[in-house]
Amino acid sequence: MCGIFAYCSFLKEKSRKEVLEVLCQGLARQEYRGYDSAGLGIDGDKPGEVIFFKEVGKVAGLRKQIASSPVDVNKTSVSQVSIAHTRWATHGVPSKANCHPLRSDPTAEFCVVHNGIVTNSAALRLVLQKRGFTFESETDTEAVAKLLKYVYDSQADKKNLTFTDLVKAVLKELEGSFAFVFKSTHFPNEIVTARRGSPLLIGVKTDKKLKVDFVDVEFAGQDNSKEVKADTLHPISPSALLAPPSANPKVLRTQSRAFMSEDGLPQPIEFFVASDASAVVEHTKRVLYLEDNDIAHIADGELHIHRLRRKDDHDQSPAQIASTRTIETLEIEIAAIMKGKFQHFMQKEIYEQPESVVNTMRGRVNFDTNQITLGGLRAYLPIMRRGRRIVFIACGTSYHSCIATRAIFEELTEIPVSVELASDFLDRKTPIFRDDVCVFLSQSGETADTILALRYCLERGALCVGVVNTVGSTISRETHCGVHINAGPEIGVASTKAYTSQYIALLMMALQLSEDRISFTERRNQIIAGLHSMPAQIKKVLELDSVIQQFAQSVADNKSLLLMGRGFQYATCLEGALKIKEISYMHSEGILAGELKHGPLALIDENMPVIIIMTQDSLYPKVQSAFAQITARKAQPIVVCNEGDDGIPANAKTIRVPKTVDCLQGMLNIIPLQLLSYHLAVNKGYDVDFPRNLAKSVTTE
Ligand code: F6R
Repeated sequence: MCGIFAYCSFLKEKSRKEVLEVLCQGLARQEYRGYDSAGLGIDGDKPGEVIFFKEVGKVAGLRKQIASSPVDVNKTSVSQVSIAHTRWATHGVPSKANCHPLRSDPTAEFCVVHNGIVTNSAALRLVLQKRGFTFESETDTEAVAKLLKYVYDSQADKKNLTFTDLVKAVLKELEGSFAFVFKSTHFPNEIVTARRGSPLLIGVKTDKKLKVDFVDVEFAGQDNSKEVKADTLHPISPSALLAPPSANPKVLRTQSRAFMSEDGLPQPIEFFVASDASAVVEHTKRVLYLEDNDIAHIADGELHIHRLRRKDDHDQSPAQIASTRTIETLEIEIAAIMKGKFQHFMQKEIYEQPESVVNTMRGRVNFDTNQITLGGLRAYLPIMRRGRRIVFIACGTSYHSCIATRAIFEELTEIPVSVELASDFLDRKTPIFRDDVCVFLSQSGETADTILALRYCLERGALCVGVVNTVGSTISRETHCGVHINAGPEIGVASTKAYTSQYIALLMMALQLSEDRISFTERRNQIIAGLHSMPAQIKKVLELDSVIQQFAQSVADNKSLLLMGRGFQYATCLEGALKIKEISYMHSEGILAGELKHGPLALIDENMPVIIIMTQDSLYPKVQSAFAQITARKAQPIVVCNEGDDGIPANAKTIRVPKTVDCLQGMLNIIPLQLLSYHLAVNKGYDVDFPRNLAKSVTTE
């Protein structure tokens, strides 16, 4: 997740200082979307020239850099377009080189800011390198800036070329998700912005009354379903892509609209492009949310919206598509907008999971061929497969994701897996050998215990693999190789979406390690099919929120809450109990149901609240026995079970979740417990996002 921002001011005298302030403020408002580096590009002294400012870290650092720069900030002009970005790294560490805007060449003929992931950037990079382009960053985005220049340079008729057509041609070559804003020396005082899969909106500010007017229907565009192969440039055939629409036999319809004042006279007008309404609301409350495959062109004080027609539009008539764009008036205030419609970041992050798990899988799971590609591990797979054992090392929630996936990892790889709490691993001075594979899980990548354990394993010559959310963090830098979970920034101290994304990252690792084993093909395919359904199933579980809120009320006055389960669900119990402890300050314990009669059963009576996880897998009959043992002692457990399971007594209190593959079920089962802990904390009036005594990143031992 990153935040993008653009500011376009027309017919209004503005100084660079004012523009820079608008940009920095727009970025600061979106810092929660990413804060590892920030950058911006404003108009330079010559027409079309761009001046860049870039800094690693937060927007405050960027402001300092601007304050100490020799650029004449008092220079004014009546028309200006500028772009800005706050980054949450996915490709390449946080560094000035990787900071946006990214440019096509040293004179920045084209520059771009981007939120999302271009999954075919490696192929594009290769194609462009073969055509003489030199890259200066590790980002996926730079390939897009360079592709614009490549397509532009290849045009014979540059006079009739519009910025929008150029961007359309480039977007057709991109796979993945994005929101972009483009700026170019060839099209001064214009910007083009487009989205597919990442949020994007445009704020409009003017004193005059605006009219939203349908102006034309144009013909252009093709399906974007083809793949770019690394060694051919035929798909990027600029002259073909930019041919006059009538010459193109595969034409499809797109729509365009313009905004103008009701009296039609020129007027001072400002446009603000952003990932999030929080960045524009202090300037204007009138916003227009772009939809996937919209391309907006801002120039001469006008805004035109075009559509890039794709396969998924086929069911929609042009009229339906066009009718979905209106200027809305925002009613809410900034603080509320940053959390969207949610009360707390934790709640927002719980609700982001249908999307964050997709981001973890994006470009890695091919659901057509059932193949997994974790690029960061590819070169190390033979060493990993030869390893004598795999040791997962982590703390807290990250540790629980290791427990959740250990069994499937062992099943698919047939390599013994041990799971270690980093602090205990170090306390025991655990023996580690050169042929061990040590996997370090961490959302922040900065947890001191995990870093120390990593250094301990590096000294002993083990292969060290990182699974982290924060690109450029210590763990991602110091491990030999790894996987970024791409869950986006997690702000709530209680980890939620990072857990489900770590879970998927470890599963993908196990699936990739086992790809050479024919005997596991059926099992692998079953799991990959389950992953495909996961986002929709998570959405279904989230629909249970109000039921769970009622359960939270019913247990809120208790001192303690026990969670029981076994097999794949033991981790769910541990993680659920941790969530409850850390934000609602209620004692809670995750108990392996197989251990019940070895002690914990003594706690059970009619007053002890219990949640039992009874989803249907091979251990279901054993969990039924545990259920019988506790209900015989008058417990009245809340049962997390599958939809349609009629083996649960009719009078039991149930939370029914969709059924998935056994090793994936924990991802669905944890969500009611995340919601339960959330509602418990809200009920008690606690600070959900910042629980007492805890920090998001535990950088001390
Ligand atoms: C619990 C929680 C902590 C972290 C733990 C490890 O909700 O957030 O238990 O999981 O401190 O942090 P990372 O994953 O950043 O290493």
